[in-house]
Amino acid sequence: MEKTFVIVKPDGVQRGLIGEVIARLERRGLRLIGAKFMQVSLELAETHYGIHKGKPFYAGLIQYITSAPVMAMVWEGPNAVAAVRQTMGATRPTEAAPGSIRHDFGLEVGRNITHASDSPENGEAETALWFKPEELVSWERAVDTWIFE
Ligand code: RTP
Ligand code: MG
Repeated sequence: MEKTFVIVKPDGVQRGLIGEVIARLERRGLRLIGAKFMQVSLELAETHYGIHKGKPFYAGLIQYITSAPVMAMVWEGPNAVAAVRQTMGATRPTEAAPGSIRHDFGLEVGRNITHASDSPENGEAETALWFKPEELVSWERAVDTWIFE
């Protein structure tokens, strides 16, 4: 099953949107397999956002993600990566589709509430970076056959 790694970023946590994000992903039909509420270390932030090192927004991004606690999660399902990115909306809230989280709750790219993996490969890699194998739960839901074809 495809995995994707999701963060409710510090602004989402401070604004009380953890439940809103989880509710939307549950309602979509995705299955939660791991979650932890945590303070992100500088080292983890720099590894996670290594691809953006050198970009003008990098320092602000590291400051943002380490500024307060986050909710880190792993969700799985068919096409989980594409489905979750669609639910989050485009990176810039003013370009995000109406009905998406970033559209419905955001205005600025540097306060865009969530992170979600951008490929199945990164879904696996980010899951491995943020979670130990024993922190993930493999399980089946009674409704799975009514959501997964
Ligand atoms: P994410 O990784 O957070 O799910 O977002 P994304 O794939 O849609 O966007 P990405 O290009 O990976 O950028 C990561 C995060 O960096 C911040 N950002 N700021 N000021 C800017 O131009 C700018 N561009 C990106 C955003 O917080 C974005 O989510
Ligand atoms: Mg990204």
